[in-house]
Amino acid sequence: MPHISQKYGQFQYFDIQLGHPIWRGKYVLDFGGNAGNILKDPASTIDIEKYHCIDIVPEAIEKGRRDYPAANWIAYDRYNISFHPTGSRSAEIPELGRRFDYILAYSVFTHVDVDEMDHLTERLLSLLNPGGAFAFTFIDPGNGNFEHRLERTNLDGSLLQTVEHAPWFRLAGADVYLEDDPIPNPATYEGKQYHVFHTVEFMTGHFPAAEILPPANGEVQHCCLLRRS
Ligand SMILES: C[S@@+](CC[C@H](N)C(=O)[O-])C[C@H]1O[C@@H](n2cnc3c(N)ncnc32)[C@H](O)[C@@H]1O
Repeated sequence: MPHISQKYGQFQYFDIQLGHPIWRGKYVLDFGGNAGNILKDPASTIDIEKYHCIDIVPEAIEKGRRDYPAANWIAYDRYNISFHPTGSRSAEIPELGRRFDYILAYSVFTHVDVDEMDHLTERLLSLLNPGGAFAFTFIDPGNGNFEHRLERTNLDGSLLQTVEHAPWFRLAGADVYLEDDPIPNPATYEGKQYHVFHTVEFMTGHFPAAEILPPANGEVQHCCLLRRS
């Protein structure tokens, strides 16, 4: 089943994390924006015509286009073990013909490995207008977050000890892989849950130029904020 996001609240979340900017007139790229739920927030003041959404689930992009035909919907054929295992491992972000004031990624890097996150971050930063910002979320395994994920998916609580000192790790199906430990047979996890957890300490060291912000709006995800001066 293609993934159509049922998550809402993204606008309020990023509005807080970015310090309540004036959204009107700004070009926004919702990277991994799925069907564009951010636009459904009654509080959203994002200009529909200036909103661009890239996602690797074609059905989500089609739904977004049906719901908001005046916005800009871009399908991206990039591999993701969970959401799009038939995608290309080398496809670059499609040429968009413009730069953006705000690039947002809610719960996207929580599903990709760190080398992929770094690759995408480099590309996305190059798409920012001067004065623009790239804000993406991540999940720290602490504060009960990893424990909660294990409970939600009926997994063994002993995995908590396995990840205790890991700066980042992946939960693939029912198995944990620490940092860059290779996954022996990735095909067995295609289409299954694939969650990536990063500690705040790891993200702080990994992105020294970033502001690492605590969760907001009652969410559990931290925010990594990179501004282009
Ligand atoms: C948990 S969903 C969140 C969707 C949306 N941001 C939201 O909050 O409703 C993660 C999304 O990231 C997308 N995604 C994963 N890897 C991606 C990539 N390399 N490029 C673009 N989108 C990606 C998935 O297709 C999926 O729609």
